[in-house]
Amino acid sequence: MKLSFKHLINATQLTVSHVDRLIEKADKYYEKRNARNCKDLDGHILATLFFEASTRTRFSFESAMYRLGGHVVSLEQGLSSSAKKGESLSDMGRIMSHYADIVVIRHPDSGSVDAFSKYATIPIINAGDGANQHPTQSLVDLYTIYKEKGTLSNLKIGFLGDLKYGRTVRSLVTLLKQYSSTFSFISHESLVISDALRQELQESGSSFVETRDLKGTLPDLDILYVTRVQEERFESKAVYETVKNEYILKREDVHDMPDLTILHPLPKINEIDEAVDFLPQAKYFKQAEYGLYMRMALLNTMLQ
Ligand code: CP
Repeated sequence: MKLSFKHLINATQLTVSHVDRLIEKADKYYEKRNARNCKDLDGHILATLFFEASTRTRFSFESAMYRLGGHVVSLEQGLSSSAKKGESLSDMGRIMSHYADIVVIRHPDSGSVDAFSKYATIPIINAGDGANQHPTQSLVDLYTIYKEKGTLSNLKIGFLGDLKYGRTVRSLVTLLKQYSSTFSFISHESLVISDALRQELQESGSSFVETRDLKGTLPDLDILYVTRVQEERFESKAVYETVKNEYILKREDVHDMPDLTILHPLPKINEIDEAVDFLPQAKYFKQAEYGLYMRMALLNTMLQ
């Protein structure tokens, strides 16, 4: 399967057909997860450039490349590169095209990965650009939903927490609206979805509500997607302090809802009580595991 784009910058690039084929490939890697002899990307080099902290995205991409038989060169702290001397992202993208076959990059500024890709001659993958986009997390989320629900279509999905700064919400909603999803957005009034996302949903004719009522919404949901309040994106620490504990999901909120699936892109801080982790509804650690297989599928597909 060849994709119809070179760089993956924004979830809007991904069609139902792309998602179907990536899920199919991810599942093949998942089924063979105990094998250690895969050579699908033998001799290929992945460069991971992280200007912002990461555990899951960086390590799953790096493990994915090693599991596919390739190699990894890595920049752990963006400021140990010549970015510290003022080199532009577009120059850096041009240069890295000679040193690697594919780049995965995370940066705190919206639009930065697009700038990096401007003159790049190798595929560039957006691993998160500020509060803007995180398209590979959305692919991981869709693969998890497929594995846990057996379908992506006609699901009722609640998004809880930081819907203003959460890039995973923005990317995932863009993809899910292709599957006739019904959305509930549950947040403090200062952390509601952006006007742009609201307009996108209205224009697509998607069914959605915005509410502060978590307990009243939960019984209607197939999936609850919880997000962390993104402290690093607030202009004022004082404002963050007023909203950080607005919602904390408790065991008693969900323990009698056996059909509910609880997802979270992680890291979680205190928005989910630890007792929830042990409920069968909690699938967020499995979601992180599925990330490895989806990223193997994505690297292999983008390098074809
Ligand atoms: N979900 C996610 O992007 O996690 P990391 O920040 O640990 O990469």
